Amino acid sequence: MAKRDLIDVSDLKKAEIDALIKEAGRLKNGSDDSTTLKGRALAMIFEKSSTRTRVSFEVGMYQLGGMAIFLNSMDMQLGRGETIADTARTISRYADGIMIRAFSHDDIVQCARYSSVPVINGLSDLSHPCQVLSDLFTVYEKKADYTGLTYAYVGDSNNVLNSWIEAAGIMGLHLRIATPAPYAPAEPILKKASSLGRGKIEISSDPVQAVRGADVIYTDVWVSMGQESAREEKLRAFSGFQINESLVRHANADAIVMHCLPAHRGEEITSEVLDGRQSVVFDQAENRLHVQKAILKLLMQ
Ligand code: CP
Ligand code: NVA
Repeated sequence: MAKRDLIDVSDLKKAEIDALIKEAGRLKNGSDDSTTLKGRALAMIFEKSSTRTRVSFEVGMYQLGGMAIFLNSMDMQLGRGETIADTARTISRYADGIMIRAFSHDDIVQCARYSSVPVINGLSDLSHPCQVLSDLFTVYEKKADYTGLTYAYVGDSNNVLNSWIEAAGIMGLHLRIATPAPYAPAEPILKKASSLGRGKIEISSDPVQAVRGADVIYTDVWVSMGQESAREEKLRAFSGFQINESLVRHANADAIVMHCLPAHRGEEITSEVLDGRQSVVFDQAENRLHVQKAILKLLMQ
């Protein structure tokens, strides 16, 4: 059977995402899968920092009976110029799967092309599929569904939003996006979402309009890893786009507030909201573990 990769949310069909979420729920409820990936190894290449992705994949592999190897790209020959293609071909001879967090999305695509084992995108400049698949599970836990809801994303058009846009197209979500006009989502990702068929995506520069009557409010940092030189300019551009108590009041009273973390408290979100009664951010963080395990089972079993 051909190997499967998870480079973008669009590598999965709606029915597969539904099944993945059900499987994550089964795993979270304590199903014993301690020998499912016995004897299997996941190599994890990181070009950028990580807390959640690293720990949840590593613990997930352990709980499924396998092991994970953490590889900081700067300690590898990759950091001295060995190509991603040669790295992928070599690691495929030892490990049963590769998880890679890279600056360039194209490097992840190259890694998958040259690897003979499944490759999982652990975040690139363009997308963060594992995060959004896990977030759908969190929404499902809190709201008993993920369709039929209104999602408001307020903030930067980054990797996390791109994966939400794809998810909206695949799952048929109503996604309202508010960004400063120069930071609106790129045309190709919106075209991809509309070609996926189902979602309703609305874009504005008005956070209140986006949040009004919403069931889910989502944000992420304004300055993603690798964009540090644009920090001052972005802080100025995003100054009216903070998730704070007065903005949250425009949403439904039972709306949940989500953030993939790490958060920059006081920038894209206030501590009052992040630690408030509507916040589900640490459930989101926990659910990375259960959903990573479901992903690992799907690709590596
Ligand atoms: N949300 C997320 O991917 O967190 P880390 O950068 O800590 O892995
Ligand atoms: N958009 C953020 C997500 C971190 C998990 C970044 O790329 O830094």
